[in-house]
Formats: sequence, C-alpha cells, structure tokens
Amino acid sequence: MWRSGGRRQRAEGLDPPWLALRHGANLSPMATDFTEETAADAVVDSFATTPDPRLRELLSGLVRHLHAFVRETEPTIAEWERAIDFLTATGQKCDDERQEFILLSDVLGVSMLVETINNRKTGGATESTVLGPFHMIESPRRALGESIDFVGTGTPCVVAGHVLSADGTPLPGAELDVWQANDQGFYDVQQPGVQPRTNGRGLFTADADGAFWFRTIVPSHYPIPADGPVGTLLNATGRHPYRPAHIHFIVTAPGHRALTTHIFVAGSPYIESDAVFAVKKSLIKEFVQVDDPAQAAMYGLDGPFCLANFDIILLTR
Ligand code: BEZ
Ligand code: FE
Repeated sequence: MWRSGGRRQRAEGLDPPWLALRHGANLSPMATDFTEETAADAVVDSFATTPDPRLRELLSGLVRHLHAFVRETEPTIAEWERAIDFLTATGQKCDDERQEFILLSDVLGVSMLVETINNRKTGGATESTVLGPFHMIESPRRALGESIDFVGTGTPCVVAGHVLSADGTPLPGAELDVWQANDQGFYDVQQPGVQPRTNGRGLFTADADGAFWFRTIVPSHYPIPADGPVGTLLNATGRHPYRPAHIHFIVTAPGHRALTTHIFVAGSPYIESDAVFAVKKSLIKEFVQVDDPAQAAMYGLDGPFCLANFDIILLTR
C-alpha cells in the first residue's frame, strides 16, 4: 500500500517535506549510504524524535534485534518472502474467535516469558501461567461443592484448597473462575451440541475461611488448534501440538493482584513437553485416588474419586 501511495505522490509533484531533506548536503552517511554495518543505527536514529520514550525504546530494541537476526542468518529473498507469507497467513487466520498471533507467541514461548516477567515469583505467591484461548465465555456462578461436569464420563474428581494472602491470612469471598477440557480433551466451545454449553466451567466464591472446593472430572491432555499456520510451523519442525492435562483458574480478591494460572495433573502425558511451555513445577499437583466412602460422601460422591489440593496465595496490590 505505502509503496504505491509513495509513487503517486512523486508523480504528481507532491513530494512530502522530508524528501527535500534527502537532497540536502549535510545528511549523515548512515541515512544516505546504506550498509550492513550502519543499517540498524540509521533506523534507530530515525526514531530519535519519538515523543513517547517507551515506544522509542521498544522500537529501537526490536530493530536492533531484528537486524542482528538478519545479519546472522542471512535469509535469501525467497526465505524472507516465505516468512512474510507465513505472517500474512497468520493474520488471515485471525477472527473474532481465533487469535493465531497469540498462538504463535504461545508456541514460541514468548507468551510465557512476558507472563513470567510480569509476575515474578515473590513472597511465596502462587505462580501464574498463560490464559489460553478458551476463556471465551462467562463462567456460570456455582455453589461451593457443585460439579462443573455435566457429561458424567471420566474419572470423578474434587479440587479443594484455600485462597490466602501472602502473610497467610485467608481471603473469604475470593472469586475463582475455573475452566477445563473434558476427559476427551475438548472444551465445551469446541463441541457445541456434544457438550452442554458451559460444561467444565464455574465461578466459585471462597467461604468465610477462604476455602473452596468443587467437583469435576480429571481433564485430558489435548492438542492446541493446529489447523492453521502455527500447526504448519509445528509440523515443519517436528513438534507435537499437545498440552498436558490441566485446569485453568483466574483468582481475584479485593486488595490483591489477580492471578491467572492452571494446575497440571501430575503424570499427565506431555507434562515435560507442553507445546506452549506453560508448565511450572509448583503448579503440578497429584490427583490422589481416594477409595474411602466416608470421604466420598463428604463431597456428595458415591464411589472412588481423585482429590487435588490447591492452596492459592495472592499478592497484595
Ligand atoms: C489452553 O490451555 O487453553 C491453551 C493455552 C495456550 C494455547 C492454546 C490453548
Ligand atoms: Fe487449556
């Protein structure tokens, strides 16, 4: 677009003011004599008058790293065109429900790096991990102890714990938004007409002791959406698209920083090779088999189940 726009301006004799500068005698060699050595400085210098200093810092860093990458790997013209085609296809795959650029950021480990830098582990707080694309609909409010599973297949399971402040104070009224895939590795939104809407989702409020518990089924590992350019990239690099089994949480409490995280099912396939690099050791939980009928009855169950304990520690704002 900008290329043809530029040509039109010159043809009509409507040269922009900056073009006059180009013909001046006292331009820096970097701007008038492109070389491999000076190119990055020339582009960084072009941002010198950016009013927002953070924008200048980000663009300058991006250009320096991008130029260093190109100098180091020396792509052919055909390779560069292939890269542009890939990014174009990535954009074209995006719509209101699909965000292929975030998925690309996920599989390149950038989402987790940004997440981790912005939530450095301090004060014993629970670690965060990626949000993922399946938090797309509002979770229905459910009472403590209710089930989020409306299908009835899979291994019954209870998730229980406390929400606490970093000093150990319980956080009554903390809200826990929970979502997960079913025992076949699908979210409700991936199987309309097969799973009931909002299956695997719930919004819970911790009790007066900051305690929470809910019933569900042990989720399965599953593949990330791999029918687009990101899937092509995984294929071309011999990578699998799978995520280990997990349950998502967003936990909020007044005066505290919101936490976006998961618990991972210990021993799940792919726990050591998550396609989006989101596993943190502290988030891997044993889903312990419980055969005691009295304990089952306590949770409204009538047979063996798995119990996962997850205490959640939030940082104050
Ligand atoms: C998820 O856990 O829902 C997810 C996260 C990143 C990419 C794809 C899926
Ligand atoms: Fe997920």
